[in-house]
Amino acid sequence: MASYASFHFMIFIFIIIPFCALAQSDGIVRVQSILTANEESNQWLSPKGDFAFGFKLLQDTDQFLLSIWYHNIPDKTVVWYANSGNPVPRGSTVQLTAQTGLVLRDPQGIDLWRTNGISSQVDYGFMNDTGNFILKGSSGSSLLWESFKFPTDTILPLQEFVTGTSVLNSRQSNTSFYKGRFFLQFEENGNLLLTASTVNESGTVDEIEYYNSNNSDPTSTSNSGYRLIFESRGIISILKRNNQTQQLGSSSNLPPASENYFRATLDFDGVFTQYYHPRNFTANQKWTVLWYEPDDICAKSISNKGRGACGYNSICNLVMNGRPVCECPDGYTFLDPDDKYGSCMPNSTQSCAEVKQGSAGDLYDFVVLNATDWPHFDYHFQTPSTEASCRQACLQDCLCAVSIFRDNSCWKKKLPLSNGWASPTLTTTAFLKFRRSDAPPVYPSPKGSRPKDRETLILVGSVILGSSLFINILLTVVFCLCTDLIYKKKKPGFHPNSEANLHCFAYKELVVATKGFSEELGRGSFGIVYKGELKQSSKNVGIAVKKLDRNSQDTEKEFRAEVNTIGQTNHKNLVHLLGFCDEGQNRLLVYEYMSNGTLASFLFNSPMPNWKLRTQIAMEIARGLVYLHEECSTQIIHCDIKPQNILLDEYYHARISDFGLAKLLVLNQSRTLTNIRGTKGYVAPEWFRNTQVTAKVDVYSFGVLLLEIICCRRNVEDIEIGEGDFAILTDLVWDCFQERRLDALVENDLEALNEKMMLERFVMVGIWCIQEDSSIRPTMRKASQMLEGVIEVMVPPCPSFSS
Ligand SMILES: *[C@@H]1O[C@H](CO)[C@@H](O)[C@H](O)[C@H]1NC(C)=O
Ligand SMILES: *[C@@H]1O[C@H](CO)[C@@H](O)[C@H](O)[C@H]1NC(C)=O
Ligand SMILES: *[C@@H]1O[C@H](CO)[C@@H](O)[C@H](O)[C@H]1NC(C)=O
Ligand SMILES: *[C@@H]1O[C@H](CO)[C@@H](O)[C@H](O)[C@H]1NC(C)=O
Ligand SMILES: *[C@@H]1O[C@H](CO)[C@@H](O)[C@H](O)[C@H]1NC(C)=O
Ligand SMILES: *[C@@H]1O[C@H](CO)[C@@H](O)[C@H](O)[C@H]1NC(C)=O
Ligand SMILES: *[C@@H]1O[C@H](CO)[C@@H](O)[C@H](O)[C@H]1NC(C)=O
Ligand SMILES: *[C@@H]1O[C@H](CO)[C@@H](O)[C@H](O)[C@H]1NC(C)=O
Repeated sequence: MASYASFHFMIFIFIIIPFCALAQSDGIVRVQSILTANEESNQWLSPKGDFAFGFKLLQDTDQFLLSIWYHNIPDKTVVWYANSGNPVPRGSTVQLTAQTGLVLRDPQGIDLWRTNGISSQVDYGFMNDTGNFILKGSSGSSLLWESFKFPTDTILPLQEFVTGTSVLNSRQSNTSFYKGRFFLQFEENGNLLLTASTVNESGTVDEIEYYNSNNSDPTSTSNSGYRLIFESRGIISILKRNNQTQQLGSSSNLPPASENYFRATLDFDGVFTQYYHPRNFTANQKWTVLWYEPDDICAKSISNKGRGACGYNSICNLVMNGRPVCECPDGYTFLDPDDKYGSCMPNSTQSCAEVKQGSAGDLYDFVVLNATDWPHFDYHFQTPSTEASCRQACLQDCLCAVSIFRDNSCWKKKLPLSNGWASPTLTTTAFLKFRRSDAPPVYPSPKGSRPKDRETLILVGSVILGSSLFINILLTVVFCLCTDLIYKKKKPGFHPNSEANLHCFAYKELVVATKGFSEELGRGSFGIVYKGELKQSSKNVGIAVKKLDRNSQDTEKEFRAEVNTIGQTNHKNLVHLLGFCDEGQNRLLVYEYMSNGTLASFLFNSPMPNWKLRTQIAMEIARGLVYLHEECSTQIIHCDIKPQNILLDEYYHARISDFGLAKLLVLNQSRTLTNIRGTKGYVAPEWFRNTQVTAKVDVYSFGVLLLEIICCRRNVEDIEIGEGDFAILTDLVWDCFQERRLDALVENDLEALNEKMMLERFVMVGIWCIQEDSSIRPTMRKASQMLEGVIEVMVPPCPSFSS
């Protein structure tokens, strides 16, 4: 027994000792070193162990973030992250290679991120005790890359910035590291700015400034700021060219750096805060706030453009240390229950149809909110006014959501309400309207889940304000609730594919949902799409129902197999299939409803959408196609990529629709061209030859689409342009590219003209994609990487054989 135990002890020693040896790091990471994302993952430690580089398991998920964190304190606070904060699945790896530096790969070995701009051979990596991860080159131990040059939401002592850089970008929430809406920028003129970005209803990105350090002196550059310095003793200051410094925050109680860590973080709620934490800690010590900017984000972020520090319809309250807390007023609930800094939606909507003269008071009442205001965006102003008439004016007006009374004046506002805030300094009174009959309804609770609040069943309002995540949750819940009903109506023998989570609708249900197919949303190549609503306890959920043309001879089994393939796709840039109907001649597909219509109507109407949003949409479409071609279980070739088949969700994110239908309805097994209906102007040349159709047909169509997105012009204009050579956009682009006249493509588009490098990159990728020879075209993955600037774009050859 004793020898058995000591045998185990020996094994213990032998296993543990080498690991201890590894943990005693000298900070050096050799080429070919690799880390794998799992709980047992090692980290690359700095010499004193202050910082670690590696995969951090994210709270409440099974995903990992490649990051740098404080290793010696219980909080393990993250100070830097790779891959734009996108988490990666278990089993992903990061490796240090001599040619490209760090490479992050998913478990399938696909590149997700790498250190950009490595110009020569990497000799070794080093995790410094300053929190800086650096890559050194072999030639004279030059510095090839350092994490300090690519900050995320935190800066550390010894980090420095020059003017003209966007220093920090907040994360999305306390636990989600995706990019958030707040930025710290060090402007060319020496001002340090905090800005918040908001995408407004027309898709324009507005930036509002809520803090300005005022370090520019227009009369003398030597009095202007030019470097931002975080000294090792903890002071952050702006250095001017005349060697004067302006310190940020106050230093009166700066604790000694020998005993404390410092960091300054642009927190997810938009407050830029400097903290310290004792290096030698006792159990309960945490990060302590030294100073923060702005002093009152609720007040400072009010503008006539944005939505304020919180979401729409929300109220911002200032609590300790400049932190905002967002609250939904009575009668409103958070759109995404997990996002307490997001928008709120009303429990019910008001309709102008139901308010008949004199009955408004029976239907609606008010919540009175003292010292609360939603500044700007009023549609009606009355002065003089009284409290009673202000209240009455809103009650009788079916458009009015709130009226604000102050100093004998009255402002009426519609939904959505922006810039909401409450403060004891305000002398306003807000009368917020709500429906008297609002009381939480009672639903049968689905098996195994707790009853959901009414918030999950309200869609109106979320069409304007919702996040797609929310709608997905909502629809899932609705379908869970419906399952019992649907189950009873089901034909015997039907087994819904639980993996794909699709539901089989009865034809009659869809007739009711679409009011007898009365509202047409569009005509696609495969059938007509109708708007519909699923009724659920007096609330409606928007859907898009596609009635497929009856032209396929495939069997029911094949239809279901294909529908299941489509149903199993899951990517944020695809429109999700919710269910289908297959009754005799009637084959219908039921999709989530996309509130912002097609890319075609967005792109080819005035005003022209802005460049930043257009490039974002192009990259999103590319990502969606990479997914269809390479990442879903069965490869899906779209075959009909065109702006009419790209939809935009409520935040103007691109969502590819109609994928999987080509296989389902048009092509037989041998993929010949019997019935193709690919659209004029977007069809790859091989469709007209008898060669095999591959995913490269989508690359071609994507190339055309990309050029259209760049130029905001249709490839083939409907109007005749006489004998001119420039009727076809792809020809025009090639000519301009050859003659180095790219400016001509984006006339009047100042934003695009200002981003010449990006413009050229996008045009070149477009030309690569429309190569007549399909083997020269890049794969969608390569095209996507070129667009995102991850890999270099070579100068493309002429796209057509003939010229
Ligand atoms: C680590 O950082 C310190 C302070 O900036 C610097 O002096 C030192 O050279 C760095 N170490 C390496 C290997 O670059
Ligand atoms: C964010 O998370 C930290 C650590 O988990 C916690 O101390 C802090 O209170 C959180 N902040 C907010 C606003 O929830
Ligand atoms: C969106 O912002 C742009 C630019 O600030 C403005 O011209 C446009 O009117 C705004 N649209 C809406 C719907 O607010
Ligand atoms: C910068 O100037 C603006 C306008 O004069 C002022 O409102 C703001 O408080 C100033 N900011 C600082 C940090 O002093
Ligand atoms: C600022 O300081 C640097 C180094 O101390 C010195 O070389 C330079 O001349 C100074 N500039 C001015 C304007 O005083
Ligand atoms: C931290 O604690 C260690 C051991 O308890 C001690 O040796 C060291 O001097 C302390 N450091 C500081 C800065 O107090
Ligand atoms: C609105 O809905 C929420 C969540 O269901 C509920 O708690 C609240 O009481 C409702 N408010 C009103 C005024 O009906
Ligand atoms: C709002 O202010 C009025 C007048 O100052 C006061 O009578 C009323 O009680 C206040 N209401 C609330 C909810 O605080």
